[in-house]
Amino acid sequence: MPLVSLRQVLDEAAKGGYGVGAFNVNNMEQIQAIMEAARETKSPVIIQASRGARAYSQDRFLYHLMLAATELYPEIPTVLHLDHGNSPETCLSAIEMGFTSVMMDGSLLPDGKTPSSFEYNVEATRKVVEAAHAKGVTVEGEIGCLGGIEDGHGAGLDGLSHLTDPAQAVDFVKATGLDALAIAIGTSHGAYKFSSKPTGETLKMERLIDIHKRLPGVHLVMHGSSSVPQDLQDIINKYGGKLKPTWGVPVEEIQLGIKNGVRKINVDTDSRLAITGAIRKVFFEKPEEFDPRSYLKPAREAMKKVVALRMTQFGQAGHANDYKPLSLETMANSYAAQPVAV
Ligand code: G3H
Ligand code: 13P
Ligand code: ZN
Repeated sequence: MPLVSLRQVLDEAAKGGYGVGAFNVNNMEQIQAIMEAARETKSPVIIQASRGARAYSQDRFLYHLMLAATELYPEIPTVLHLDHGNSPETCLSAIEMGFTSVMMDGSLLPDGKTPSSFEYNVEATRKVVEAAHAKGVTVEGEIGCLGGIEDGHGAGLDGLSHLTDPAQAVDFVKATGLDALAIAIGTSHGAYKFSSKPTGETLKMERLIDIHKRLPGVHLVMHGSSSVPQDLQDIINKYGGKLKPTWGVPVEEIQLGIKNGVRKINVDTDSRLAITGAIRKVFFEKPEEFDPRSYLKPAREAMKKVVALRMTQFGQAGHANDYKPLSLETMANSYAAQPVAV
């Protein structure tokens, strides 16, 4: 089946009361790991590429790998999503290439670092919504800024300084007509999210619940949602790595989010940890190896394992064949029948 829209996958998730992991990719092995995990768990799939991933892979390579995924896994509804688009132009170029969903992250200016004004965010997001919906493509927006140390995604901010204001979230959804809303509740990108197990002081689940009460029909997105499992940290450090002690987002908090409107859960760091640990292990135990397959195969397998586990924990497992995918043309017609309120 062709690539499907994020909107349909999230609408179905809302009906079924489950969440869907959105896993970042940069190369063939990561795409294969996710598709194999999806087949094993019978899950719908969201695969996302950041601007960095598009640059790394010369995005046309990535796009054609995704087409191969749809050919080889025809039973899996698969979304190709742009993660953290920094400007309308970036989003439009992804749509042009064939992405079926885009994130316009107008919470930051196009430098990907500086928090923007509400007015800028509305204008940029709305512009993308108009262009995307005309083609049946889904739009995720963000209100409030995540913390994080990753370049270009809120660099320098701490996780708590720009939390989403629930009243502003309502205004933002009304003004933009977006399909999915990313909110800031204390998470950040990367491995170093919390210096101890998060509490209500550091991970603001109450705020998420408040936003869901005000916007019960809106699909919420949790970014920075890797759990940074201790066992994956231990493998890296056992084989020569130097990760500092750190905590991620506990899976049970994500599951609480899913009970309260979270439909898309962004995970990149856990895959990176799994891959790096597996490669380090081969390098450490078999220093004589130099065939890339000898370490990329275990790396792919390790990523598949963590992705399959998350698919089960988020509840998407078993839902790949619940529904018939709609074409982007059908999605465009349904948007046209319900124009965005101003
Ligand atoms: O949002 C952050 C994702 O983990 C992607 O990271 O920009 O290094 O590809 P990246
Ligand atoms: P993690 O760094 O927690 O995996 O978050 C990824 C993310 O939010 C991508 O947009
Ligand atoms: Zn993110």
